[in-house]
Amino acid sequence: MDYVKQLIDGSKKFGIIGQGYVGLPLAEAFAEAGMHVIGFDIDKTKVDSINRGESYIGDVKSENLKPLVDKGLIEGTTDFSRLVDCSVISICVPTPLSKSKDPDVTYIEAALAEIIRHLQKGQVIVLESTTYPGTTDELALPLLEETGMKCGQDFHLAFSPERVDPGNVRYTVKNTPKIIGGVTEECTRIATEVYDYALEHVHPVTSTRAAELVKLLENSFRAINIGFINEMAMICEKLDVDVWEVIEASKTKPFGFMPFYPGPGLGGHCIPIDPLYLKWKLTSLDFKAQFIDLADSINSNMPHYVVTRVMEQLNEHGKALKGCRVLILGMAYKENIDDVRESPALDVAKLLFEKGADVVYHDAHVPHCRVEEHNLQSSELNEELVKGADLVFIATGHSGVDYQWVVDNAQLVFDTKNMTGHLDRTAGKVAKL
Ligand SMILES: NC(=O)c1ccc[n+]([C@@H]2O[C@H](COP(=O)([O-])OP(=O)(O)OC[C@H]3O[C@@H](n4cnc5c(N)ncnc54)[C@H](O)[C@@H]3O)[C@@H](O)[C@H]2O)c1
Repeated sequence: MDYVKQLIDGSKKFGIIGQGYVGLPLAEAFAEAGMHVIGFDIDKTKVDSINRGESYIGDVKSENLKPLVDKGLIEGTTDFSRLVDCSVISICVPTPLSKSKDPDVTYIEAALAEIIRHLQKGQVIVLESTTYPGTTDELALPLLEETGMKCGQDFHLAFSPERVDPGNVRYTVKNTPKIIGGVTEECTRIATEVYDYALEHVHPVTSTRAAELVKLLENSFRAINIGFINEMAMICEKLDVDVWEVIEASKTKPFGFMPFYPGPGLGGHCIPIDPLYLKWKLTSLDFKAQFIDLADSINSNMPHYVVTRVMEQLNEHGKALKGCRVLILGMAYKENIDDVRESPALDVAKLLFEKGADVVYHDAHVPHCRVEEHNLQSSELNEELVKGADLVFIATGHSGVDYQWVVDNAQLVFDTKNMTGHLDRTAGKVAKL
């Protein structure tokens, strides 16, 4: 079967289950390469939005999506019986943690249940959700083979980690190398051939486990290094040295150093969660992942640390946090995006509320958010708001905010992102992480 040819002539479709931050950009990349894509989701509002050509994901522009929809290259559906039209099916559903911080693979299981219900000979299934090593061959493979069909013969199965970096305009789905590892060599070969057509570079590996582990290595590497630099920020505070200056200077070394930056905690759907998927798997093998544990503990403590620093700063100015108004600048977990999942700014807001502060926020990307029982709306960033706050807490360094103006108008500023480092007239008013 010529997969690429059929996906281009439209006799077969590329199905993507889950049309979120990962699934919709992937749909766009394959459709832009001329392949016919069906985006499956259980959320009808997303599907309707796709079919109107209106994007709800920052990295996908409606002016790009609409022509692809109009040409019939992308359609959205909640009807999973359409899976029979697909020769390749990618799974991009969420993989959160359960309350006990264990992997929650129920979304993957639900997607697999639909695939199994409609499984066709020759179909290629590619799991892209981030998960623990072994999910593809221990969970997905036996479930799919319960149908009586054989992997590598009747259907093909591979894992390919999604590496999209929301908000990154330089590296997109198309030009970020794609890792693929199949259950059999034939699975790897076919999946590689299809992805290679639409994406700039595909890097095959010899097993699904290696592919699963690539993603967990990358994200554990980030979580551990961020944990280290967060600890370094605390060390620098003890030594009365500016951590940001030390990082900038260290960066001048042209080899053997890679900069990471501290912050009020670790956010997003990936970096705080993925290492715990790996840790969970290792615990089942009676192995303790110590670096992951330590980084998790340091990173999880950062919201507490910065709130303590805020209390100290207020105290120096004769104020108690209780009853103070704190304006949080930036609720998203990182700059210039609208995603608040696991955002440390939410943890900081929760702690501030618990300590009796009156919390307001401004984030042009996040019109509203919820912190425990508090339904918060982003306030307009004006003089009255900034002057009226006892302290401005910079949690996320969105561009589009005039930080000099904030410093000029604020009573006190606590800056966790070094947005004020280069500014004039910060002395006395501004404390930095
Ligand atoms: N967001 C990122 O930056 C990023 C980066 C790399 C990898 N990932 C991984 O990719 C996966 C997806 O993440 P995301 O950020 O796109 O999540 P998301 O929540 O933005 O999107 C997931 C989508 O799946 C849909 N969905 C849930 N259950 C479904 C089902 N049974 N059938 C069909 N659709 C279903 C949801 O309605 C939602 O639209 C996760 O495993 C995540 O760890 C995310």
